[in-house]
Amino acid sequence: MTRYGHFDDAKREYVITRPDTPLPWLNYLGQDDFFGLCTNTGGGYAFWKDARLRRLTRYRYNDMPYDGNGRYLYINDGGVVWNPGWKPVKTPLDRYECRHGLGYTQITAEKKGLLVELLLFVPLGENHEIWQVKVRNISGQRKQVKLFSFVEFCFYEALNDMTNYQRTYSIGQVEVEGSAIYHKTEYRERRNHYTLFACTRGIAGFDTSRDVFVGVHNGLHDAAVPLGGECQNSLAFGWNPVGAQQINLDLAAGQQEEFAFILAYVEQGDLPKFSAPDVLNKTRGRELVAKYQRAGAVATAFAALHNQWENLLGSFQVDCPDEHCRRMANTWNQYQCMATFNLSRSASMYETGIGRGMGYRDSNQDILGFVHMIPERARQRILDIAATQLADGTCYHQYQPLTKKGNAEIGGDFYDDHLWLILSTAAYIKETGDFGILQAPASYSDTPAVATNLLHHLETSISYTLSHRGPHGLPLIGHADWNDCLNLNCFSTEPNESFQCAGDVKGSKAESVMIAGLFLYATREMAGLYQAMSRPADAQRMTQAYDEMLAAIEAHAWDGQWYRRAYDAAGKPVGSQQCDEGKIFIESQAWCVLGGAGHTNDRAKQAMESVHTHLFTPNGILLQQPAYKTYHVELGEVSSYPPGVKENAGIFCHNNTWIHLAWCLLGQGDRALEYYLSICPSAKQSQIDIYRGEPYVYAQMIAGRDAPVSGEAKNTWLTGTAAWTFVALSQGILGIRPEYTGLRVDPCIPKSWPSLRVQRRFRGVEHDIEIRNPHGLSRSIKKLEVDGRTIAGNVIPLPSGKSRVRVVATLG
Ligand code: BGC
Ligand code: NOJ
Repeated sequence: MTRYGHFDDAKREYVITRPDTPLPWLNYLGQDDFFGLCTNTGGGYAFWKDARLRRLTRYRYNDMPYDGNGRYLYINDGGVVWNPGWKPVKTPLDRYECRHGLGYTQITAEKKGLLVELLLFVPLGENHEIWQVKVRNISGQRKQVKLFSFVEFCFYEALNDMTNYQRTYSIGQVEVEGSAIYHKTEYRERRNHYTLFACTRGIAGFDTSRDVFVGVHNGLHDAAVPLGGECQNSLAFGWNPVGAQQINLDLAAGQQEEFAFILAYVEQGDLPKFSAPDVLNKTRGRELVAKYQRAGAVATAFAALHNQWENLLGSFQVDCPDEHCRRMANTWNQYQCMATFNLSRSASMYETGIGRGMGYRDSNQDILGFVHMIPERARQRILDIAATQLADGTCYHQYQPLTKKGNAEIGGDFYDDHLWLILSTAAYIKETGDFGILQAPASYSDTPAVATNLLHHLETSISYTLSHRGPHGLPLIGHADWNDCLNLNCFSTEPNESFQCAGDVKGSKAESVMIAGLFLYATREMAGLYQAMSRPADAQRMTQAYDEMLAAIEAHAWDGQWYRRAYDAAGKPVGSQQCDEGKIFIESQAWCVLGGAGHTNDRAKQAMESVHTHLFTPNGILLQQPAYKTYHVELGEVSSYPPGVKENAGIFCHNNTWIHLAWCLLGQGDRALEYYLSICPSAKQSQIDIYRGEPYVYAQMIAGRDAPVSGEAKNTWLTGTAAWTFVALSQGILGIRPEYTGLRVDPCIPKSWPSLRVQRRFRGVEHDIEIRNPHGLSRSIKKLEVDGRTIAGNVIPLPSGKSRVRVVATLG
């Protein structure tokens, strides 16, 4: 128990016990096409598929409070007005509890003898969210109360909605039928969809005009109708349509009422659009309301969601001595992987949903943490991503989920992007054995008529890097590599331009050691893939490319105690003893070591010891040191951030995880766990007032020691940390690794762990794996017994005809 809440591990919930958390603590509703952002006070918004192009309810950017718009219920109990989620009125509550669970949020509050429970979730496969409401009179006396619901509609294109008032204030339209409000702005001409906000119970009134319900001079905290006590049945014409219903409850002592609100995105499909001139065809809306009016319908939908999550998580569960590892691996880390897979970096409390869509490199990496859950969705995603690569090998850096088309604003030329496709594809095939994906048709974005397949994309990616190398034989960096802020070709002195896209990339010879290391990793994956396909000549070709790059790294990237980060456009090293600031970076140590550099000459060990000496802190590994205190025009955005945050010596959690894996590769189990815990959100509860972020999901960044707010987290939820830390924990530390021929057991654990047990569903087979550590070691399986029979090596072969195998692996 901390000041703000605690984990309920058995229920897989985080329980928030006071509403004034250090920042709004977010959860996501939905996991297919309909999504809702939902904070612990009910703040947030809903959208269908694409947070920019199909926004259903409104959000105010950089508002006060941060989550200043949402799904609100107001209670008027004899003139005392309050919200079960505390906001927006903020009337002190007698009791408040918010349980963020897997795909749902449950807020329970009590005031003046009235208990209100609000359960918010999106039923599986459906395009709507349900707000189930239970109101119970626990006062011991009869109570007459009024309840008001509230959402503010968005006109779908979220950026236009927020910026083009000269138009939007004139187009808003609604229809009301019974307890259902139909938001139909722009329906008449170009849209065949609408937003429905309905209640399963009869209502005493409604409002759809924001000016009436809230008041022109009011805010949500003093909204006119809830305070005044009566809806006005206003019909919005233009301005800002909202959905609000009034429900009058007359409750005997002990009596409980239960009903639900439905917020839905409805596509008409081939139904007639209108039932009379300009009257929206309400068939689907009526069906939806009728569905949830049936007794038990909400409970059934909720149970299905719960079962789905139990089943998904069942593909990986661990019992090990560390509580943080257990809780993150078994529940929260996998849950966050679902969110990053679905949303990439588009919509969170820190990503507006109108900026980035799906990131090319981000989405490829997100697959690594998601593929074991629903491989078929990962397959489709890989092909969607590949379709945004261009025939020359470069990629659209981002694409819109609704259209699946590359986003031209940010363009391409991030010269790491294409290589990540190799990692995601290899992970998918290892998980599933589906080599067929390589032959799946996948055209290039700029040559859609030319039929190629996925394997062609992987080859194009390799050749792109091979043919774009600089004076040291290392890959060119382009606009940037994984580190978006290392802009070696930008030279920006003009505040009105993008750091990434300014500058002349074409002639420059700036090189990236990080891409070189990633290239080692990618070519080794390609060689392994070709071997598994029995194509030795191709495997050999990849190995040659690997050897060549390795030679360039060892000849030109070693700085004496660590690997350099890059060479700038003038050929000067970045991340070197020779530099005054930014002498050592994480990324090149991680990728060179993970790619296999420095393993025969002791440099891998030295590089990692340098990380430990210069970059490791109790809150995680600093991205580089010393922080840039001055702006280096030749390095770009990295030196524009204040020292200690973001890429300028912040603790970027995403690239911390690569170091966790590198420690595992070197067999250092104690280090791996110590580093793992240093950024683990669950372990931050003891310093939560400094950390401020949600303790159940990873943050992109924790402020480093150069910042005055050292230890403070930012950009929680949508970060590549989710996928990679799951890889680091499940495949590195716990050591359960899918391979083409079976499941490898290769843990790298703290010496003090006597044993652990993993349940892993792999290719349809439940693997029950017990790892014993009788001699207090970190790694090295000496004996592997599969269903009682000892087998050589440490790969559990693919069983034939079995649905379950029992494995005992002993370290020795
Ligand atoms: C980085 C930010 C940077 C942004 C630029 C992001 O990937 O994390 O630090 O400001 O790219 O678009
Ligand atoms: C966030 C971006 O989404 C990701 O692609 C990038 O690698 C990191 N920032 C580091 O700059």
